[in-house]
Amino acid sequence: MRIDIITALPKLLESPFGDSILKRAIQRGLVEVHVHDLKDYGLGKHRQIDDYQFGGGAGMVMMIEPIFNCIENLKKERDYDEIIYMTPDGKRFDQRIANHLSLKGNLMILCGHYKGIDQRIRDQIITMEISIGDYVLSGGELAAAVVSDSIIRLIPGVLNDESSALFDSFQDDLLAPPVYTRPAEFNGWKVPEILTTGNFPKIDDWRHDQAIKRTEERRPDLLED
Ligand code: ADE
Repeated sequence: MRIDIITALPKLLESPFGDSILKRAIQRGLVEVHVHDLKDYGLGKHRQIDDYQFGGGAGMVMMIEPIFNCIENLKKERDYDEIIYMTPDGKRFDQRIANHLSLKGNLMILCGHYKGIDQRIRDQIITMEISIGDYVLSGGELAAAVVSDSIIRLIPGVLNDESSALFDSFQDDLLAPPVYTRPAEFNGWKVPEILTTGNFPKIDDWRHDQAIKRTEERRPDLLED
């Protein structure tokens, strides 16, 4: 898989891809992540990328030409399965969308800023708009990192224990059960005895019951469908 991210603030994306699981996935060649600085496509000697909005009103709008030129440049090299715009008024991101996107070959993600981008880019070029939740961030970069992380960890070979992504919360519309590690007793607080018996079928049953209980308590909406 390859992910191209277009941003006016490329530095914001250095750390999410420079550590831990994502870094290892990139080093092992399981995914390529390329961050493109929109200012490289800015207009004039000030490399302008935003302008006042038609009709008046506060806040700058990201201009059509730099974004268009950057996207066209990337499209010359390869076809993209989706050209995604990160925006609070997009489709709410969830595990189902992450699963769907993890099967794609080439993704492009555009990060918005200020008042957003010229609507003509959204109408003509963007194929998918994603929000990571009902709140407004300063820009789309952190949202793009969230989406990329959730996709990349699903690529086979990225997690050491490949099966572990299958047991994540939300994969079967259930939250994950509680987990414990050594010591078996601390401060008089004991781990559930079943987990120390070695009876794996029973442990599986217990975990499933716990997942249902936790989902009923915390996210009953997940059980409704
Ligand atoms: N940009 C600003 N806020 C956002 C959000 N909630 N989701 C995606 N992109 C955003």
